[in-house]
This record gives sequence, C-alpha cells and structure tokens, in this order.
Amino acid sequence: MLNGDRVRMRAIEPSDAVHLLRWHTDPEVMRWLEDPYPPSLAALTRQLEERKPDSYESLTLMIDGLDGRTVGICALRGAEPETGDATLDIYLGEKDTWGQGFATDAMRVICRYGFQKMRLHRISLSVVAENAAARRVYEKVGFVEEGRRRESFRRDGKWHDQILMGLLANELR
Ligand SMILES: CC(C)(COP(=O)(O)OP(=O)(O)OC[C@H]1O[C@@H](n2cnc3c(N)ncnc32)[C@H](O)[C@@H]1OP(=O)(O)O)[C@@H](O)C(=O)NCCC(=O)NCCS
Repeated sequence: MLNGDRVRMRAIEPSDAVHLLRWHTDPEVMRWLEDPYPPSLAALTRQLEERKPDSYESLTLMIDGLDGRTVGICALRGAEPETGDATLDIYLGEKDTWGQGFATDAMRVICRYGFQKMRLHRISLSVVAENAAARRVYEKVGFVEEGRRRESFRRDGKWHDQILMGLLANELR
C-alpha cells in the first residue's frame, strides 16, 4: 500500500474487473485512451486472475480515495535498470472525482516510488495533445514536453498528435 495526501494505492485484484469494465465502456473516460475492443467481465476477470505478479518491469496500482472508494488505476511499465527509464499511464474512471487533485497526488506517489524504491532516473509518458486536463496534471508534477508524435492517435476517424513528456528524478514537484 502506498499512501498519498488524497489517495491510497494498492495492488490490483481480480475483483477490480467490475470497475475496469465500467470505466472501459464509458466514452468520456476513454475519450483520449487506447480502446481496442469492448471487454467482457469474464475476460477481464480471467486476465486479472492469470496476470503475472507485479515486478520491476510491470507495476500496476489501483487508486483508492481515503474513504476506500476505488477511483482509478495507474501503471509503471518497461522499467530498465540500464536506462533507468519507465513509462507511466494513469486514468481516473470515476468522473465525479475529477478536478479534486486525485490524479496529481497519485502521480506524485507513483513517481516518488519509481525514483526512490526502483531507483529510476526518468519516467516517460505520452498524452494526446487535446487532453488539456491530463497535460496540466503532468506539468504540475514536473513533467516537461520532450517531443511530439504527429498524427499518431486516431479517434472517430480523426488523427491527433501525441505529446511525449519526461520527468527526471530531481524534477519531481
Ligand atoms: C486527466 C485526469 C487523469 C485528471 O485527473 P484529476 O484528478 O481530475 O486531476 P487533478 O484534479 O489532479 O488536476 C486537474 C488539473 O487540470 C485542470 N483542468 C481540468 N480540465 C481542464 C481543461 N479542460 N483545460 C485545462 N486544464 C484543465 C484543473 O484545473 C487542474 O489544474 P489546477 O490544479 O491547476 O486547477 C482524469 O480527468 C482522467 O483520468 N481523465 C480520463 C482519462 C485520461 O485522459 N487519462 C490520462 C490519459 S494520458
């Protein structure tokens, strides 16, 4: 369990499939996220039952509010000791919690864990250029823009650029 000011972060359980299913079928939540095909509760539960335990290379954490309500998920993937780099993903599926600082707090908690416990040197992420709320969260935590993958994300027949962002260990705010 990792504790922040507004969130607690814990390992994912098969029973979290019910949250993931609801979030993955909400177009507003998924607006700027990869959304390959609609999942089923049975398939999601099986995936979670059969997933490998968390490791240095792949860490997934559920985000709970301090009242115990599960509100989102984040992950650090592809960590490499040689490069000291890993990729971060985050989203909050409970829309009524947006705008209350949950994602900012969760980002700080997982980045601190990555730098202090995993001894990462940097953390990378990409975000669709139009996703202003997510970009604001990343900037608040200290991420800076490092590049742009032009027209690399398609949604509803339109292409969008993705912004590449990075945070060095000494830049976390
Ligand atoms: C993006 C997301 C993670 C933000 O989570 P959150 O808990 O609402 O974020 P916070 O409350 O910590 O901070 C949001 C910030 O964005 C700002 N913001 C919100 N909507 C905005 C908009 N349309 N334009 C610019 N800034 C915006 C808020 O004012 C706040 O900044 P402030 O503290 O300076 O006022 C969450 O809305 C989400 O999961 N959305 C759907 C999935 C997604 O897009 N995930 C990220 C994929 S890269």
